[in-house]
Amino acid sequence: MLQEINSKAPIGIFDSGYGGLTILSEIRRTLPQYDYIYLGDNARAPYGTRSFEIVYRFTLEAVQYLFNQGCQLVILACNTASAKALRSIQQNDLPHIDPNRRVLGVIRPTVEILDTVTHNGHIGLLGTPGTINSESYTAEVAKLYPQYTIHGQACPLWVPLIENNEINSEGTDFFVKKYIDQLLAQSPLIDTVILGCTHYPLLYNLIHKHLPSHINILSQGNLVANSLKDYLYRHPEIEQKCARNGRCTFLTTESSKKFTETATLFLQDTITAQQIELG
Ligand code: DGL
Repeated sequence: MLQEINSKAPIGIFDSGYGGLTILSEIRRTLPQYDYIYLGDNARAPYGTRSFEIVYRFTLEAVQYLFNQGCQLVILACNTASAKALRSIQQNDLPHIDPNRRVLGVIRPTVEILDTVTHNGHIGLLGTPGTINSESYTAEVAKLYPQYTIHGQACPLWVPLIENNEINSEGTDFFVKKYIDQLLAQSPLIDTVILGCTHYPLLYNLIHKHLPSHINILSQGNLVANSLKDYLYRHPEIEQKCARNGRCTFLTTESSKKFTETATLFLQDTITAQQIELG
């Protein structure tokens, strides 16, 4: 049973692990007035190589948890969860759980702005195997820009390297170059590359180093933040239920000490996390 909430509540931000912090940072920069609860399912990350059923079940558990904290709006700050679970949750689960609450993802806000960056419609997409194999970007692009082509490249080792704090190692440099070379081999026409995993901005410097300089690199943080700002403006019935004390709470399914240490590195800010259990 969902907790009855009469007062205002934080906006929930969910990711499999640390990657959603790149989205949270930009959201807080754009909308500092609201309260947020960040939930990282670090104990079960990465999601990117898991089946549809598992990603859907884990994501639904996280959304239910955030709803139980009172959240009226939850952002899936994770492409894998957005690709594999968002539609099912919106269409099949929300009507039963609470038709007034909302769950939003990161794919639509990214695809919407593509016409402002690409000149020729050849878009490279770097993502987890789950995101690439789901073809969710291809489907979303086909709705808005049917003349564009998505060239998808799965990067299965990047999230494990980031989650294990190996960002500055030689091995990470090797695997960043390897997947970028595989992407570029798909088409010489690519003029824009989407970092289609919220963990990847943490590899931005390496990705930038290995991509030709004429290619635009799209990080999702500011796109999702601007889209959320617009959403709250267009949906006052949701906005009015969002608490406005500028606070942020961090939850993780892993050890809170480990999360706190690593998240602090990623956020360049000292935070304290609390350990919770899902499922
Ligand atoms: N940040 C998630 C995404 O955007 C990472 C997925 C994973 O856990 O593999 O896809």
